[in-house]
Amino acid sequence: MRRLLFSIVLSLISFIAYAANKPTVYLLATGGTIAGTASSQTSTTYKAGSLTAEQIIASVPGLDNLANIKYEQVYNKDSGNVTLSDWLKLANEVNKVINDPNVSAVVVTHGTDTLEETAYFLDLVIKTKKPIIIVGAMRPATAISADGPLNLYNAVAVAINPKSIGRGVMVVMNDGIYDGRDVTKTNTTNVDTFQSPNTGPIGHVVMGKVNYHDNGRANAYDAPFNISNIKSLPSVAVVYENVGVDTEMLDNILKTKNLKGIVIAGVGDGNIPDYEKDFLINARKKGIVIVRSSRVGSGEVSYDYNNLDTTYDLIAGDDLNPQKARILLMLSLLTTNDVKQIQKNFYTY
Ligand code: SIN
Repeated sequence: MRRLLFSIVLSLISFIAYAANKPTVYLLATGGTIAGTASSQTSTTYKAGSLTAEQIIASVPGLDNLANIKYEQVYNKDSGNVTLSDWLKLANEVNKVINDPNVSAVVVTHGTDTLEETAYFLDLVIKTKKPIIIVGAMRPATAISADGPLNLYNAVAVAINPKSIGRGVMVVMNDGIYDGRDVTKTNTTNVDTFQSPNTGPIGHVVMGKVNYHDNGRANAYDAPFNISNIKSLPSVAVVYENVGVDTEMLDNILKTKNLKGIVIAGVGDGNIPDYEKDFLINARKKGIVIVRSSRVGSGEVSYDYNNLDTTYDLIAGDDLNPQKARILLMLSLLTTNDVKQIQKNFYTY
């Protein structure tokens, strides 16, 4: 009996010592399909943002062997409903918890529809070298072969890996590790939807085993954007080019109160039809800053293609897709509307 008691006490002590040595990962839950539930295992319609942070964590076997998990529900929504003020709230929350010396990394659970935008936004405003991982799922938690639990397990494995330090915000989905700047959603339903068309994944993670390839463009943990005292972000519109755009619609965009910037999802190399000349001139006269991106989906926009940038004082969006170019433009506009400086930002971040 004494021997049994002694061995129980010994295992308890070694468990406590093990738990004390494990890294602490802070999970911030925001909703999405990873927290979604459906009425049947094969249903394609479901309610995103139904499960709580606690329920998501409980659904992942072995997560507590990797790390001590602390958590908080920041909000619980379909990511299509995420607002710019949600972003500020989330970013401030990440900045707060990551500065706790006992926290090694942050994992954000998120809907996949706008995950890429949140990832890039956080990459530009979070001030830390500790890993920040964003993860989601394409299938709700109640589906056959739900992908959320393994994605979350892998996300925590990446978060605690020492090689993840100093790489900025990363996205972990379907065994891939992606740079938050480069990643984009490429398929409406497939679990392999997240890709970085210009750079490829920066690594892979298989059942928690992390393997980095290379780090691509420098991540932006030291980017100069600071949102701690910001209540709202500048208004920036995205204009998607297609054949025969109605220029009256474009003129109406310029009537938008407080519009500070426009990203043009141009055709091909960020090209803009000749008949939009007046729109460009009028927008610049109003001090609205214009970035050329492309609707094509991959590749970079060449500087001064068709003399557009020098003729109309525009900015070439490099290889950012339109929705990400909008984020960098919004953040740049917080401190400047100088076209040369903002162009420099597009070649740096
Ligand atoms: C969402 O973005 O919240 C819904 C879709 C998803 O998470 O896959």
